[in-house]
Amino acid sequence: MADAKPFHWEFTPEAVTREVFRIEGGVPLRGEVPISGSKNAALKMFAAATLTGERCRFSNVPEIEDVRVMAETLRDLGVVVDHPEPNVYEIASGDVEWLFVPLEAAAKMRASFILLGPLLTRFGRVIISNPGGDRIGRRPVDLHVEAMRTLGATIEYRNGYYFATAPGRLRGTEVRFPFVSVMGTENAMLAATLADGHTVIRPAAQEPEVDDLIAFLQKMGADVARTFPDTIEVRGKRRLRGADHDVLPDRIEAGTFAIAGAVTGGQVTLTGAPCDHMTALLEVFARAGIEAECEADRIMIDGRHVADGGFRAVDIQTSPYPGLATDLQPPTCVLLTQAKGVSTVNEAIFEDRLEWLTELNRMGARVDINDNHHATIHGRTPLHGADAEIGDLRAGASLILAALAADGESTIHGAHHVQRGYENIERKFADLGARIARLEEGTDSTSS
Ligand code: EPU
Repeated sequence: MADAKPFHWEFTPEAVTREVFRIEGGVPLRGEVPISGSKNAALKMFAAATLTGERCRFSNVPEIEDVRVMAETLRDLGVVVDHPEPNVYEIASGDVEWLFVPLEAAAKMRASFILLGPLLTRFGRVIISNPGGDRIGRRPVDLHVEAMRTLGATIEYRNGYYFATAPGRLRGTEVRFPFVSVMGTENAMLAATLADGHTVIRPAAQEPEVDDLIAFLQKMGADVARTFPDTIEVRGKRRLRGADHDVLPDRIEAGTFAIAGAVTGGQVTLTGAPCDHMTALLEVFARAGIEAECEADRIMIDGRHVADGGFRAVDIQTSPYPGLATDLQPPTCVLLTQAKGVSTVNEAIFEDRLEWLTELNRMGARVDINDNHHATIHGRTPLHGADAEIGDLRAGASLILAALAADGESTIHGAHHVQRGYENIERKFADLGARIARLEEGTDSTSS
């Protein structure tokens, strides 16, 4: 069987088609851009759909690679995943034949680990690959595993896999995290929805995507609520039902396009944007002297004074919500290269999420990486076109921003990283007037 899937010990990562973004920078972006549904909410909702055998329907799902990987992973388990029209998915988890999430899924997408909680609580067992780390540093899953053990599961780790069992039901209890974890909170919450008794999760992540997941679970009949800002309480039910949900807009994508408008000296309006969820970034804009106006679900950004040195340097620190999102640290750094003065960056969530700044320096930025968590940006430096290599999703989007703001042509290698999390990014930028194309590596005189 030539096309049979390899066993995990035979697994080698699939070869990706190497593509580049070719960008001719220096055009101020102008116009309206629609914001897509949130990646980090949609992925968790797909996992939540396995808590019931009934059909769940999701709209406003972003058309991105991570969503396709999650859909494929669920299909491999025996879950029915339909995609009746763009941005709509239907999931029915009546028969889950294989309670096994292979290394193949984990290697493509760390978020596959969110399947631990729902599969374990509904079926009493699951074997799931350790996702290990990725390009933004070591990314352990110890908090997820400990939370399941606290809820009564037995988990053994062998050969790269967690073998988790919970004969009977999981038991409601207090799940205390040593610090805030978004997926840790979500995994514990999903597991607790079908557990026997009352669970208190603390400190619970306060990200809007977690609240959107709570809203979906409530529609499924789960008894779950945020009872204090940092506390989620769940009273386990024996069964949940199918439900429909419209995924909330992606605040990280919105932030990326807002910064694109500012850094290119343009005027951009985000439509369908989650104004209420972007307070921390809008505060950075206010401190930098960038005009941004929010009106219901529209955000207007005016960056026309960037060229006369109109942006001020700002010190930023990432932190859990409602603080500045770590996923917005890379694009914010691009913005700060165009601010007058010295800005400092404290990346407090992940180690190694500053490494990509060496690529930004190739485009004319003056950034010192002081250690794994701190950098200093000397502005304002004009950016110029260059060849740069994308290491991860958010760094990739940020290199595109830098190339859009730069004079001359850039070739940004590793486009597949960006497709993981941004719907139609090059089309959205092109609609704002950007000169951007995605090309196969090696074509049209691209170098590798
Ligand atoms: N951590 C542990 N042990 C764990 C879990 C986390 O030490 O078991 C540490 C992490 O290494 C990190 C900190 O806790 O230092 C916080 O990580 P968190 O668990 O909150 O991150 P996550 O849930 O794995 C989600 C998003 C990330 C986003 C972070 C922080 C998804 C699928 N991913 O990751 O998004 O950066 O929260 O907001 O929801 C992205 O979209 O590009 C992305 C990386």
